[in-house]
Amino acid sequence: MRSARTFALGLSLAAATAAFADPLDDCRRGRGEARVTACGEVIKSNQAAADEKASAYRIRGDVRAAAGALADAAADYSAALKLKPGTAAALAGRGRVRVMTGDLDGALRDLTDAIALTPASAHLRIERGHVQLARGDADAAIADLNEAIRLNPTSESAFNNRGLAYRKKGDLDTAHADYTAALMLNPVYALAYANRGYLEEARGRKAEAITDLRSALLLDPSISGAKEALRRLSALDTLTQESERRISLGRSLVENNCSRCHGIGAAGASPNPKAPEFRTLHERHPLTALREPLRRGIAAPHDEMPRFQLSNADTDAIVAYINSLQMAR
Ligand code: HEC
Repeated sequence: MRSARTFALGLSLAAATAAFADPLDDCRRGRGEARVTACGEVIKSNQAAADEKASAYRIRGDVRAAAGALADAAADYSAALKLKPGTAAALAGRGRVRVMTGDLDGALRDLTDAIALTPASAHLRIERGHVQLARGDADAAIADLNEAIRLNPTSESAFNNRGLAYRKKGDLDTAHADYTAALMLNPVYALAYANRGYLEEARGRKAEAITDLRSALLLDPSISGAKEALRRLSALDTLTQESERRISLGRSLVENNCSRCHGIGAAGASPNPKAPEFRTLHERHPLTALREPLRRGIAAPHDEMPRFQLSNADTDAIVAYINSLQMAR
C-alpha cells in the first residue's frame, strides 16, 4: 500500500516536470488555464523566437476568445500580428472577436485580409457573409455565400445563411429552398428548422410553421425565438408536454442502460472513472452532434463503451435528456 502510494506520487512529479520543460508544446497542445499559463511563459521567455511568440499570442487569443475574454483575446491577436504580420489565423481570430464585440467594420477588414491570404477557405467566406448580412448588405453576403458553396457544396451553414440573406431581400421562395437544402445536408440542423419556421409564419402557413418550429425546439430547446413564435401561434403547450415526455423517456433509458458506468444526473461522479459524466458532454461536443454516433451505436475510439442498438426515437429521447442536464445548469 505504502509503496504504491510513493510510486504514484513519483509519477505525478515526473509529469509535472515534463510539463514545465516545454512551455511551447504545452501552449500548442495543453488544455484550459494550464495552456494560457504555458503560452504566457513563451511570450515572456528570452529564448523564444519571434515566430514562436507570435503563435503563443495567437493560441492564447483563441483560448481567451473561447472563454469569452474578448478584449484580452483581441489584444493577443494584435500582438501576434505585430510580431508576424499577414497571419491568416490571427486575422480570422481577431475578425471573429470583432464580430462578437459589434465592431463590424473592423471584422470586415480582418476577414477580408484573411481571405486574401487563404482564398480557398469556405469557412472564412461564411464568416464574412455573416458580417455583410449584419451590416445590412444582403447582396455582398450572397456573393460570399455563393463562393463558399462553390468551395464546399456540402456546407449546411452556407445554405442556411444564404437563406437568411435572401429572406432579408424579400425573396422568400429562394430563402425557403436554401433552408431546405441545409436540412437535406444535415437533418438535425435545429437553426435551419427555426429559420424555415419563421419564414412559414411570415407567409401565413401556420401548420408548416408549427412543424418546423417544433422540430427546431425538440433538437435544441434553447432557441428562444422559436419558442416565442410557437407561443404566437398558440402551439407551445403541446410542445412542452411532448418535450417533457421525451426527456423522461430519455431519463429512464439512461438509468437502465448507461448509469452503471456514467454519472447521469445533475451531480455525482461516474461509477466508471473513464466514462464521462453526461452533464459534461456538452463541453466536448455540440449536443446535437451526439445523435448520429448514438443512433449508429456509438463506437468511441478506445472501446470500453458497449455497442447499442437504439431506435431513432430512443436516440432523440437520450439526446433530449442529456440536453436537459445542460439547460438545468
Ligand atoms: C460498461 C460501461 C459503459 C456503459 C454501460 C455505457 N458507457 Fe458510454 N462510455 C464508457 C466509457 C469508458 C467511455 C469513454 C470512452 C471509451 O473508453 O470508450 C464512454 C464514452 C461515451 C461517450 C463519448 C464521450 C466523449 O466525450 O467522447 C458517450 C456519448 C457515451 N459514452 C454515451 C453512453 C450512453 C448514451 C450510454 C447508455 C445508452 C452509455 N454510454 C453506456 C462506458 C460505458
